[in-house]
Amino acid sequence: MKPAFVFGTRPEIIKLAPVIRAFEEMGIEPLLVHTGQHYDYEMSSVFLEELELRKIDYHLEVGSGTQAEQTGTAMIKIEKVLMKEKPDVTLVQGDTNTALAGALASVKLKIPVAHVEAGLRSFDRTMPEEVNRILADHASEVLFAPTEEARENLEREGITENVYVVGNTVVDAVLQNAKIAERKSDILERLGLKSREYILITAHRAENTDSKENLRRLLEILEALPIKAVYPMHPRTRKRLESFGLWGRVEAIENLIVTKPLGYLDFLKLQRNAKIVMTDSGGIQEESIILNVPCLTLRYNTERPETVKAGGNVLVGLEKERALSSLERLLNDEEFYKKMANAPNPFGNGKSGQRIAEILLELYKKGELRVRN
Ligand code: UD1
Ligand code: UDP
Repeated sequence: MKPAFVFGTRPEIIKLAPVIRAFEEMGIEPLLVHTGQHYDYEMSSVFLEELELRKIDYHLEVGSGTQAEQTGTAMIKIEKVLMKEKPDVTLVQGDTNTALAGALASVKLKIPVAHVEAGLRSFDRTMPEEVNRILADHASEVLFAPTEEARENLEREGITENVYVVGNTVVDAVLQNAKIAERKSDILERLGLKSREYILITAHRAENTDSKENLRRLLEILEALPIKAVYPMHPRTRKRLESFGLWGRVEAIENLIVTKPLGYLDFLKLQRNAKIVMTDSGGIQEESIILNVPCLTLRYNTERPETVKAGGNVLVGLEKERALSSLERLLNDEEFYKKMANAPNPFGNGKSGQRIAEILLELYKKGELRVRN
């Protein structure tokens, strides 16, 4: 069996690594195609190194661009590779432009697509990710939904065949790397931070960073934080802050440490030892509940409602008052803190990668891995 993995961004590398490893352990050598959507060392290569994915078969160097430029260029380049390599299945992950491009290029060549992390919905079509995940799901033959809620979203859209609820591979990633991170990373010492004495922040979503008004609102929250905070900043956010003339305000915040994006081991260590996480990231909402750290999400909706229902995540949007009152409560009300920190992980037991590889191999052996009419 010849599976092809198409990926190109930080979270795709992290979440597909456990599936790639599972195939390798079964003696199957997958084809690895990196679109180059993320290209800075700290957005891509650092993860390939840490997660030991050294042998990328194709680097497509798609790079940045408008939505259509990036997706279109990726499709053209992925199609060439798939035509040459003729894999039995193409695996894509999540909701990036790379995932959509991989799914569309593949299904049109009649190579079946398996979508890892299928069925997530924010019900907000103004987000590029929502469009990508809907279209990728509908182009896919095999759908790996992380939770029952995700399966129900697919069912509501008429997708009922070959849907498997397998948990989220992010649990595999965290379990495989958190202990290594604790041992190997010296990030707390490097930044002069003590466990549970700081807030970890990330924000990079288009809706939060592409508008000056929203970036200002984010800044107002950062300026009012009650304890020390660390913000490993996505290059998108940094570039926007600079071009909107807001960078100086970030630098002036005394108890905020801004770093470059961090490798996975450093980031996991920082996340596991944080008192509170504030983020607009999808993967970090998931990891926080897995790592038992309360999460405040800087968005008005989430495609990970399981984390909110479980009690580990609160949507605060870019509302300063809401964010600050949640922070104050977490810092002063021990019972409330414990309740959020101990919310149960809804994303499975960390064996998702293996299950995905086994299901695909089984379908392949039965001759059922094909694009149907
Ligand atoms: C993409 C995904 C988003 C995901 C995120 C993970 C889409 C539509 N969005 O957003 O869902 O959460 O990846 O991090 O696919 N840049 C660099 N260096 C890099 C990569 C990007 O400087 O290595 C800068 C460029 O200015 C680029 C901007 O960041 O224009 C945005 O990058 P892009 O890949 O388009 O989207 P992300 O915001 O990273
Ligand atoms: N991450 C990382 N270093 C960082 C920020 C994030 O390793 O500086 C990891 C994080 O642990 C998670 C993933 O990157 O696994 C999330 O990526 P991101 O927030 O960029 O994307 P999203 O999940 O929102 O699509």
